[in-house]
Amino acid sequence: MKVFIAGGRGRVGSRLADNLETKGIEVVPGGLEDGVDVISGKGLAEGLVGVDTIVNVLNTPRFDAEGAISFFEGAIDNLTAEGERAGVRHHIVLSIVGVGEGDASEIGYYLGKVAQEKAVRSASIPATIIRATQFQSYIPVLIDQHTVDGKVLAPRSFIQPVDLEEVIELLAEAVTTLEPGSDIEIAGPDRFYHDDLFRATLADRGDDREVVTVDGQEPLDAMVPRGAYRTGTVRYPIAGIPTA
Ligand SMILES: NC(=O)c1ccc[n+]([C@@H]2O[C@H](COP(=O)([O-])OP(=O)(O)OC[C@H]3O[C@@H](n4cnc5c(N)ncnc54)[C@H](OP(=O)(O)O)[C@@H]3O)[C@@H](O)[C@H]2O)c1
Repeated sequence: MKVFIAGGRGRVGSRLADNLETKGIEVVPGGLEDGVDVISGKGLAEGLVGVDTIVNVLNTPRFDAEGAISFFEGAIDNLTAEGERAGVRHHIVLSIVGVGEGDASEIGYYLGKVAQEKAVRSASIPATIIRATQFQSYIPVLIDQHTVDGKVLAPRSFIQPVDLEEVIELLAEAVTTLEPGSDIEIAGPDRFYHDDLFRATLADRGDDREVVTVDGQEPLDAMVPRGAYRTGTVRYPIAGIPTA
């Protein structure tokens, strides 16, 4: 089996490549530094020769709706066109829990992920969509993104972060055993409130930024699974945070 990882040198992609190679699967990394540009199409035809499965773990720094939509949608279109020519049978996309529900519709980046999901579902190559909650290791980054003038503005809404390695294992399972066509969600074992999680994480790191609880404009459960989902077993590495 030969797998093309679009974004194969990124945080998720590089770990997935290691995981698949350990299982004896041939991996082709498809990122800018490999000479592949999924937006211009450069290097795609060459990279996809003999490939059975594409795993799409691309990312963009564009957080505005226009930029995020055009990146995520454009990448699906180009991967589909070249993938179809190469005989690719399965396109696996990593998305985020909650973005398809419409509740997070004000956030441009999430609109990009919604467009990505729609594009791959209506494309000719059979697809699997894996939706993960926030990675536990990204919580400090999320805190920075919520910091305004030195204060962390945190909604009193749910968050259920998952261990990145458990997401990687699910992506690997999608490559090796899942039939195309599934939508699978994965979340960590514990559900917290954003503000409690942020306060505990900052305290643990000796960071004295103040966390201010703000009224959320989105539903309490916007970013956690609402239906059936796979529950990770790895707990958030800080004990004693009240669960929601
Ligand atoms: N953070 C979370 O908690 C979370 C939760 C659920 C899902 N996700 C999803 O996980 C996915 C992967 O995230 P990540 O953190 O691994 O991203 P990342 O580290 O930023 O990696 C993204 C990769 O995309 C590649 N790339 C960007 N533009 C490209 C282009 N035009 N052509 C080819 N490759 C291009 C980059 O290549 P270069 O390195 O060569 O530039 C990089 O390797 C994202 O789609 C994100 O939405 C994240």
